[in-house]
Amino acid sequence: MGCGTGRFAAALAERAYAKVWAVDSSPEMLEIARARAPSGVRFKQASAERLPFKDGWFERALMTVVVHVLDRPRAFAELRRVLGAGGRLVFATFDPAHVHGYWLNRYFPSMREVDLARFAPADVLLAELRAAGFAEARALRHSRRKRIDRETALERIRGRHISTFDLLSEDEIEAGLAQAEADLPDEVEYALEWLVVIASRA
Ligand SMILES: C[S@@+](CC[C@H](N)C(=O)[O-])C[C@H]1O[C@@H](n2cnc3c(N)ncnc32)[C@H](O)[C@@H]1O
Repeated sequence: MGCGTGRFAAALAERAYAKVWAVDSSPEMLEIARARAPSGVRFKQASAERLPFKDGWFERALMTVVVHVLDRPRAFAELRRVLGAGGRLVFATFDPAHVHGYWLNRYFPSMREVDLARFAPADVLLAELRAAGFAEARALRHSRRKRIDRETALERIRGRHISTFDLLSEDEIEAGLAQAEADLPDEVEYALEWLVVIASRA
């Protein structure tokens, strides 16, 4: 769900775990995913909040870095509906700790607040999953350190590589980019603070 460029759909299909459907609301993303996918992956343009699949159609549902852009109560209820008995939803998202420590906060002062409103803490996600009818839900934390060079960091900012940029003003983006060009170090080190959530239908 929210397959984007399709890297996980391709990985799952290549390992022949199962028949894979790759779903995304964006036709542009699906076009890229289609071009890279091995045969066997099927595609559907649809919103997580309204899925054109029958009840109980899937054994597993997977989302990576998608939950923060969804209407979560509606999407969780839909995902539960399309999972069969014993079905499981697994998703990876960022813990609010990730938002607090994000390496771009220093350049874009609104970023923290914008993303704290989108990346919910584990207890909120688990309560929403139970309210959507999942019998059991648990969350794991996973922390990973990353290092990128200055040019890569600047390319990411110029390319507005995360959707948070869509929610900032042009003035803030311009000022943040100018400051980053002036004082980014040769290497930028940061942590990815992941939340992995596993919810069982019954
Ligand atoms: C940050 S990208 C993550 C893509 C991919 N899962 C990955 O990890 O590379 C979020 C994706 O969610 C899709 N998306 C946004 N809103 C959606 C919705 N309501 N239903 C389904 N997909 C949605 C976007 O088009 C985008 O491809």
